[in-house]
Amino acid sequence: MKTLRVVADVRAALDDPRSAGRSIGLVPTMGALHEGHVSLIRRARAACDEVVVSLFVNPSQFDEPGDLAAYPREEQRDAAVAARAGADILFAPSPDEIYPPGFSTTVTVDELAASLEGAHRGPAHFASVATIVTKLLNMVQPSVAYFGQKDAQQVAVIRRLVSDLDIPVDIEVAPTVREPDGLALSSRNVRLDAEQRRRALALPRALDAARQALAGGERDAAAIAAAARSAMIAAGVEPEYLELVSPDTFVPIGHVNGQPALVAVAARFGDVRLIDNALLNPSDPATERL
Ligand code: PAJ
Repeated sequence: MKTLRVVADVRAALDDPRSAGRSIGLVPTMGALHEGHVSLIRRARAACDEVVVSLFVNPSQFDEPGDLAAYPREEQRDAAVAARAGADILFAPSPDEIYPPGFSTTVTVDELAASLEGAHRGPAHFASVATIVTKLLNMVQPSVAYFGQKDAQQVAVIRRLVSDLDIPVDIEVAPTVREPDGLALSSRNVRLDAEQRRRALALPRALDAARQALAGGERDAAAIAAAARSAMIAAGVEPEYLELVSPDTFVPIGHVNGQPALVAVAARFGDVRLIDNALLNPSDPATERL
């Protein structure tokens, strides 16, 4: 695996494979790689001829300076993990390579980015994510780009911008990788102390409670959300939000009918903010639907 730092080198490295018709997979990350990231890289390895992993801690998408400062940075370890998972190129640019002086263009995705994460983190969050992902897609020009269901609203925003801006790439979404006790893997989990780590199980418990309510025949979104919220409160955690929405538009839904619904939740544990979600499948309520 090669580590490259400038766009021109990435393009040059991909020139020959691209003209030979080889497929290129891109896995965008902010580093601190864990098994969730590894699952995306392995998928790319299995499906594509060339695998590029990008590692860039995008400062503008952090709404809290403390969160940016505390974000784990460990490039050498990440390079080893990416190589072992099958990456051919690690693209680890400097902030100047991504945002040179004079940079002044932002990609915004309107309504979709305004609810839930957008409402709580502010409009700059998804605008920054949309801008960096658009740039990475243009820099690498992959055939396929891989994202995790863990960040479901991010996936919806990216699918929207790829469609709206006619970017020629397939977007693949992989299921959330979890710890054995159900906690979704996140680069922020290392910042939880033992007590917060225990309380963070309120997130997967809430999702289980939503699935159980659905399996018990409940179809009213407010009642399903109330069951999930009670499970969190019982675990001593007040959610920042907990809602049932359409997974494509993130518009709140009233009833779970034939269409899949997404239950999305966020909560704080000290100064660590975690999110999680599950797709509810009304025709087979016990299983998560992708
Ligand atoms: P980051 O948080 O590093 O995540 C990189 C990718 O890994 C995202 O697509 C995310 O959804 C996925 N991921 C994270 N945790 C996961 C888990 N437990 N299971 C499966 N996939 C998981 O998301 C970002 O970076 C940034 O916003 C980025 C898209 C790179 C733009 O800066």
